[in-house]
Amino acid sequence: MGRSVYIYTYGCQMNVHDSEKMRGLLVRDGFAVARRPEEADLIIFNTCAIREKAEQKFYSQLGRTKLIKKKRSSVRIAVSGCVAQECGEGIFKRAPFVDFVLGPQNIRHIPRMLAGGPRGVCVDDNHEIAAEELPPDRDSSIKAWVSIMYGCNNFCSYCIVPYTRGREVSRPSGSIVSEISALRDRGYREVTLLGQNVNSYRGDTDFPGLLRRIDATGIPRIRFMTSHPRDLSDDLMAVLADLPHVCEHLHLPLQSGADRILGLMNRGYTYDDYAGKAKQLRNMMPGIALTTDIIVGFPGETDEEYQSTVRALREIEFDGMFAFKYSPRKGTKAFTMRGQVSEGEKSERLSSLLLIQEEITRARNRTLEGTIQEVLVEGTAESDPGMMTGRTRSNKIVNFESSMDTVGSFIDVKIDRAMTHSLWGSRTDSH
Ligand code: SAH
Ligand code: SF4
Ligand code: F3S
Repeated sequence: MGRSVYIYTYGCQMNVHDSEKMRGLLVRDGFAVARRPEEADLIIFNTCAIREKAEQKFYSQLGRTKLIKKKRSSVRIAVSGCVAQECGEGIFKRAPFVDFVLGPQNIRHIPRMLAGGPRGVCVDDNHEIAAEELPPDRDSSIKAWVSIMYGCNNFCSYCIVPYTRGREVSRPSGSIVSEISALRDRGYREVTLLGQNVNSYRGDTDFPGLLRRIDATGIPRIRFMTSHPRDLSDDLMAVLADLPHVCEHLHLPLQSGADRILGLMNRGYTYDDYAGKAKQLRNMMPGIALTTDIIVGFPGETDEEYQSTVRALREIEFDGMFAFKYSPRKGTKAFTMRGQVSEGEKSERLSSLLLIQEEITRARNRTLEGTIQEVLVEGTAESDPGMMTGRTRSNKIVNFESSMDTVGSFIDVKIDRAMTHSLWGSRTDSH
């Protein structure tokens, strides 16, 4: 077998980071990274099963890849990630040209599988995952993903993740801290701590304790995702407000503004619980950005209940929102619930919700006009390669005129104009 790999990545940041880990393992074994799938000897699909659309995207790309294998039979195809875990051997039935199937808890086995027989499946539960130290081949030399825990115990009734990522296990804090110290020494400016529910981290310390230890490494910026509203403690809020390197942004999925739906979803909080915590955060940190996830059209959601979600958005005034149409996932509790909402109704709710939030986001962003923000410069702007781009501590994208040599540094930018998805500004100083 030749020695180059191409990876398609779908889904969340955990998958993005798992792809970095698989690439790291393969590069260590002498693999090169192919620029295009047509040139690769090994093609990996690191898949997502969160909604039907995500699965479909993968399957249609997999279908196109069959042609590559037809022309060049030596190419090996692996399917990893959450669809691999969900379907196991079933992948071969649907796509007989696939060679390997490995679930998200078993990515360390990719080199062994390649060296083994012609076909392989590895979807076992792996309780040792928190002790693994896989060497990631990172996409960025400025910002790094760092796993702090794996799996999820929450079993929200709509969600496939507990079935694909297994039970919660936390990585020991010492190993997290030494990874971050090493990143700091190599010039990294920002880390994002990853887990399905980071605030239920339970290593040899709790999540606020972990943040204190990470803050002490001196890494300039610390972010984390995702947090669960139920586990957002006073201690965590205090740490957020006090630690200098922890950024003023919290992604806190609300999912619905209606208590009956939240109950059916098994979320473990009411709208008032959530709104109270949001208010407390904004009182402690006026500059904090709050972002959220919403599901519309959960089984049985009435128009009145949908309107409660609309009211919630207007009341809390999120800085940003990801909204999704409920997608039934086989094996989850909501799959068999009565009152499935029609596709047309879901689409209508989604598009009106997006419009409402867009206005709120723009209004929130406008409050930053005229202020000076610390920006970590990341590279050239997507929409205008003549401009540079970066993010504020509150995670907002800022475009401004500057030169390439500022990439990786912190500069002060005065915000001139606020749009929905980005801010435009001018450089005032560097430090
Ligand atoms: N662990 C995180 C992220 C889970 S997946 C959390 O608990 O928030 C990211 C988002 O996808 C969820 O917040 C939810 O809004 C959405 N999601 C999950 N399952 C879904 C489904 N079956 N249909 C539609 N959206 C879903
Ligand atoms: Fe899914 Fe809920 Fe776990 Fe998030 S907390 S991954 S939505 S089960
Ligand atoms: Fe998707 Fe699995 Fe992440 S289902 S969102 S890749 S945990």
